Formats: sequence, C-alpha cells, structure tokens
Amino acid sequence: MIVLKLGGSVITDKERPETLDGEALERAADAVAAALDGGVDDLVIVHGGGSFGHHNASEHGVTTTEGTRDAGAALEIHGAMKALNQFVLRRLLERDVEAVPVHPFSAAHRDAAGDLELPTGQVATLLGEGFVPVLHGDMVAHAGSGATVVSGDELVAALARDLEADRIGLCSTVPGVLDDDDAVIDRIAAYEDVAGVLGESAATDVTGGMAAKVRALLALEAEASVFGLAELDAFLRGESAGTTIESSES
Ligand code: IPE
Repeated sequence: MIVLKLGGSVITDKERPETLDGEALERAADAVAAALDGGVDDLVIVHGGGSFGHHNASEHGVTTTEGTRDAGAALEIHGAMKALNQFVLRRLLERDVEAVPVHPFSAAHRDAAGDLELPTGQVATLLGEGFVPVLHGDMVAHAGSGATVVSGDELVAALARDLEADRIGLCSTVPGVLDDDDAVIDRIAAYEDVAGVLGESAATDVTGGMAAKVRALLALEAEASVFGLAELDAFLRGESAGTTIESSES
C-alpha cells in the first residue's frame, strides 16, 4: 500500500488565493492514472491546502494548536479544503481513477494533548473495494480547544501507521531534502545525519518545515520519499525518487 501526499504548494498557485496550478494538478493526475494502469493497486492520496485553506485559517488565527469555537470560521476553512478536494477528485475521475473523498473533519479528532485519532476502517474498506480514497488537510475537533487544523502530513503519518503502508511519497515543491549546497540528499537513516543542514530546533518548526517532516518520517516503519513533481512517475513505478528516508532502527 502506498500513501501519497500531494503538497498544497505543488497543486495550487500559492501567490493567488484559492487558485489551482491546473497544469501541475493535471500532471499529478496523469502520473496517478498511469501508475494504476501499470499495476499499482492500493493507493491512498492526501493533499494539502496551498492557496486553499491556509489563508482562511490565518485570518481566523487557527493553526494545528490554536483552535476556534466559531462554526462559521471552521466551515470557511473546511469549505475551502473541500473545494480543492473536488478539483483533485474531478481531475482523477476524468482519467478513470476511482477516486472518492474522505473528509477528516467528519472522522477524526484530537485529544486534549493534541494527539490525532484518525479512524481508518472506511479507508481500508474503500481500498479493498477498489477505490482510491482522497483525504486532505482539514479542520478537526480538538478536546479543550474547539477545532484546530490537521495537516496533510499528520494524516499521512496516521494512515501509514494504521494501514501499514509499504511506501510513503511526499510530492513537494523541492526535488528532495537539500544539503547546504542545495543538492538533494539521497538517503537519510538517522536525524543526526542531517541535523547540521536542517537545524536542531523543533520549536520554530511546528507547522511542518522540513526538519519536522524528516523527524516524523523517520519515526514510521515505511520507507518514505520526498521528491518533486518531475519524479512522481518514478516514485509510483517503485523507483527511488528524491530523498529516501528510512530509519536504520526500524
Ligand atoms: C492545510 O494542509 C490544511 C488547512 C490549512 C486547513 P497542509 O498543511 O497539509 O497543506 P500544505 O501541503 O502545507 O499546503
């Protein structure tokens, strides 16, 4: 089973609110359709927000830790993400990919410590029935804080863990994790290998900078790859793409 995240900045135009990067989204949808034709069968897609969701969230001061109890605000953020989700689904359906939505706001919650609980029974059942479930960064009920944002990266980690993914792909705007000379690092087996380039501080990085991404991916069993859109085809064919992240301890 593969969990693929399409970064929000890849499939949208970050400069303009609620604007797709149509060409990039079509390319990603082409790669997914080709992979399914080529024999990939269990695929879960998660997409981020990019120019959808983020600006509504910041307007209302909502983050993964700062919540809101204003249903209007929650609906605005959730609605923007659902609008993007519809575009993604439409592009996939046009290519005969049996893509269906799973909205995290209706399924998941955080406990008072902020830990995410994401039921995956419906995702597993959809996979078993031949569908491609498509989740997205969203709002989520948060005990003691109203509703907060859940990022696509958090959903990827929860899905990979629960559904025992074999591979995780993060299709990003960069071609991989970069070193000091902006060259792609081939393989990361321990955080210490890259602490020098990514920095030690987790505090400045709570909303998903590369250091947090790498740490979260190292904690998972599955092999993960961070790559650019140009390598999505290769990743889905089972080839190595961008930076491969797999803990030597797992
Ligand atoms: C954004 O999801 C979700 C909302 C703001 C509601 P992500 O945080 O995963 O999006 P990208 O990929 O970084 O844009």
